[in-house]
Amino acid sequence: MNTDILEPQAVCSPITSSAIFIVATLNAGTEAAQTVKDWCGDVAGLVRSVGKRVPTGNLTCICGFSSNAWDRLFGHPRPASLHGFREFGGEGRHAPATPGDLLLHIRADQMDLCFELATQIMAVLGDAVTVVDEVQGFRYFDMRSIIGFVDGTENPVGRKAVNFTIVGDEDPGFSGGSYVLVQKYLHNMTAWNGLSVEAQERVIGRTKLSDIELDDAVKPSNSHSALTTITNADGEEVKILRDNMPFGRPGAGEFGTFFIGYARSPEPIEQMLENMFVGKPPGNYDKLLDFSTAVTGSLYFVPSADLLEELADR
Ligand code: HEM
Repeated sequence: MNTDILEPQAVCSPITSSAIFIVATLNAGTEAAQTVKDWCGDVAGLVRSVGKRVPTGNLTCICGFSSNAWDRLFGHPRPASLHGFREFGGEGRHAPATPGDLLLHIRADQMDLCFELATQIMAVLGDAVTVVDEVQGFRYFDMRSIIGFVDGTENPVGRKAVNFTIVGDEDPGFSGGSYVLVQKYLHNMTAWNGLSVEAQERVIGRTKLSDIELDDAVKPSNSHSALTTITNADGEEVKILRDNMPFGRPGAGEFGTFFIGYARSPEPIEQMLENMFVGKPPGNYDKLLDFSTAVTGSLYFVPSADLLEELADR
């Protein structure tokens, strides 16, 4: 691990019980761009001000910028692997790219903290941006996704989490940064609940109650766990860091998962999406997608905390 890297944003901070995800587009005009740049220098102070009011609340905010936004706001140099969201699809399955220039991933152990910080941030950004998606996520029982399975078990922790998510020497001007991909999924809970628990377990590749990985001898090759386990050219497993959150409106019949994955480059997350949506081999796609529809998709670079502050003056 490179210990000289700049201070990252709170990418590897502990999982919390609440989150707000805000995806916004940047409005036209130099004034809008200047407002967002100025805000880059202010946001850490806002997190401190709101967070200090509940010291045990673990409030953090991660800010990411899309490829287009980066070019418009900061120009060159730019993060080496930053590009637009790549769409993936197969028959009846599609991971669409949807608008998004700025991502805010606000986390805390209390929703009031997330809510207050989102309010303060939006007051500063004002009409410089247009919010195109806003999701309040909640922790569901013992870290379960809305489909009832524990989510996040195979996340890397400690030093491994840093190694898998934080840019190092490969892009020196952007060390301490990270890439983040988000997608909003809606689930057909009636169809999902129509499956037996054993059939659901074969879709995920783990047991439902005890969250134990199915033995390779019985785990289907089209299970979610099989298709999202990837290796590099040396045969070593490559992980990403996920902090998915359930959300929904039971009264409207809406049940969703806000997927959020951090990595040191977009490549591993894109490889997982290809395995899920196209299939490995093609056609052997992720059965979870028979019950889940991706309705948004966008990719961002998360500058280090130090760089974020400096960007205000670019
Ligand atoms: C429909 C939305 C999704 C749901 C409900 C979901 C849920 C789950 C669950 C329950 C697990 C098993 C426990 C765990 O290790 O976390 C899991 C594993 C995993 N998921 Fe997802 N997931 C979703 C989308 C995605 C996407 C879009 C990706 C990547 C692009 C992804 C990547 C992974 C990875 C890497 C693992 C760990 C695999 C392993 O090492 O065994 N997931 N997911």
